[in-house]
Amino acid sequence: MKLAVVGGGSTYTPELIDGFARLRDVLPLTEIALIDPDERRLGLVAGMARRMLAHAGHPARVTAGSSVEEGVAGASAVLFQLRIGGQAAREVDETLPLRCGCVGQETTGAGGLAKALRTVPVVLDIAERVRRHAPDAWIVDFTNPVGIVTRALLDAGHRAIGLCNVAIGLQRRAAAALGVAPSRITLDHVGLNHLTWLRALRLDGADVLPTLIDAHLKELAEGAGLRPELIRRLGAVPSYYLRYYYAHDEVVAEQRTAPPRAAEVSAVEARLLELYADPSVVTKPEELERRGGAFYSEAAVDLLAALLGGREDGPPQVVNVRNGRTLPFLPEEAVVEVPASVTAAGAVPLPVRPVEPLYAGLIAHVSAYETLALEAALHGGADRVRDALLAHPLVGQDAVAEELTGLLLEANRAHLPWT
Ligand code: G6P
Ligand code: MN
Ligand code: MN
Repeated sequence: MKLAVVGGGSTYTPELIDGFARLRDVLPLTEIALIDPDERRLGLVAGMARRMLAHAGHPARVTAGSSVEEGVAGASAVLFQLRIGGQAAREVDETLPLRCGCVGQETTGAGGLAKALRTVPVVLDIAERVRRHAPDAWIVDFTNPVGIVTRALLDAGHRAIGLCNVAIGLQRRAAAALGVAPSRITLDHVGLNHLTWLRALRLDGADVLPTLIDAHLKELAEGAGLRPELIRRLGAVPSYYLRYYYAHDEVVAEQRTAPPRAAEVSAVEARLLELYADPSVVTKPEELERRGGAFYSEAAVDLLAALLGGREDGPPQVVNVRNGRTLPFLPEEAVVEVPASVTAAGAVPLPVRPVEPLYAGLIAHVSAYETLALEAALHGGADRVRDALLAHPLVGQDAVAEELTGLLLEANRAHLPWT
């Protein structure tokens, strides 16, 4: 079984390789094709991947190149993990909105919109090439903003599923805290990508979230970056991306003095690339934990095993899929992040119990923004960008939307052919 990774030169790739090596019985890979335009990075990452597989006694061969067509040919699945403009563009996403008093974040608010504008056209172009050269392949999208990118792929008729590590992170950490196998835990995790709440956590079918909140309130609050009182009152665990909403002004104040995440990541990446270049390093370096990708590989392997391995009765997996009638207050075409049953036929969202107005209002608000963000990414134009910003709950004011539109288009000119 062949797998291709677009953005294979990412410093995250060894995280994936580590999962493939550990879980080889679930996912019998014979070839991993790493595709990336950055030759130097790709060489270093491919070398590291080969050493890791050899060290684990895994038989898969690793190929590396810049051609999407060659890389995806014959692949059963293609992972998308690209970042248009690299950490430099991310740094702009994280700092520019601060000038207008808005949070600077690469997937949330104005920064997330800028990222969507840069990313959607490129992803769609690559997906077309996948369709021509690997027509039966599944596309698994890690590329942010995952909700908007997945919606773009589905609207264009691709076999795509969006994936994030927030849900699996909660599941794996809860399993560790409870001392049980993760497969015994299912989640009532609801919302949009990077806008979710964990409302129940079932161990063998019984909700243990209240007990978990009692016993681990402090850690849960720290993980979410929110006050323990809020989590206790909600009786639910918001994802840490909700901090950009529930503590917006506090985050802005912090961001005004702290270095942007892009700068931290650049430093981590430089160190990682040194390690990847070192022939004596044959296992995933500890430094990789300083990036946000924990458990990505396990989420990917679980998803691919269900899609490709024909495992019909596997546990539900939290993925980004078409809403359909799952959340009745959203359009059917919206993309939501919920538990789904995954088989060779794809991911089908499981029924979700009614969503409380406290969450449903924000979900609907951000979902509408996502629709407008996708319109702007597909068709361009300052007015569409302005509309998307006006629709975003973290922007919302005319004067701010106006100013940010100008700043954001100017800063991203190199990546937006229509500007
Ligand atoms: C988490 C999120 C991803 C995001 C990543 C950022 O894993 O779910 O969507 O890309 O964090 O990590 P980084 O190390 O780049 O800050
Ligand atoms: Mn994510
Ligand atoms: Mn609202």
